[in-house]
Amino acid sequence: MAKLAIIYGTGFGNTGIMAKAIEEGAKNAGLEVMTKRVEEATPTDVERADAIAIGLATYKGAGMPSVFKYVESLKSVPLKNKVGTAFGSYGWSGEGPIVITHMLKDYGMNVIEPSLRIKRTPEADGIEECRKLGKKIAEMVRG
Ligand SMILES: Cc1cc2nc3c(=O)[nH]c(=O)nc-3n(C[C@H](O)[C@H](O)[C@H](O)COP(=O)(O)O)c2cc1C
Repeated sequence: MAKLAIIYGTGFGNTGIMAKAIEEGAKNAGLEVMTKRVEEATPTDVERADAIAIGLATYKGAGMPSVFKYVESLKSVPLKNKVGTAFGSYGWSGEGPIVITHMLKDYGMNVIEPSLRIKRTPEADGIEECRKLGKKIAEMVRG
């Protein structure tokens, strides 16, 4: 079964709600999914994955530093041609997922754009968008 790793950073839980809904959408579309908070994640978590989704909230005009550090630590992992995407909750500017999208592209990943950004706490329509992203990741993995 193809695998998706979802790694995310959140301050107040909104990006975690997104991660959960992406997981649901991907599982319903037949992917095996591992979801972890960035504090518990290591580069090994994405080594065996066919796709990775990186989530992060935006604070003070930038994404969460812990998530940038984690994505930087993936330099030595062969990610070329794997499916990648970034997502996150934000309040007004939402820079975090945009910068991560560039980083994943620099790794040669097959990146789903634009990144999925949802304002504050996801409502029903936002959760549906996240589920759809999970499904889209599954479709991309299958080619
Ligand atoms: C101190 C502080 C700074 C923030 N700075 C930004 C910002 O620069 N740009 C933005 O889009 N949102 C900003 N926000 C809003 C958060 O991104 C928003 O509340 C988001 O839902 C938090 O996601 P989380 O629950 O996953 O941590 C800020 C929130 C706080 C509390």
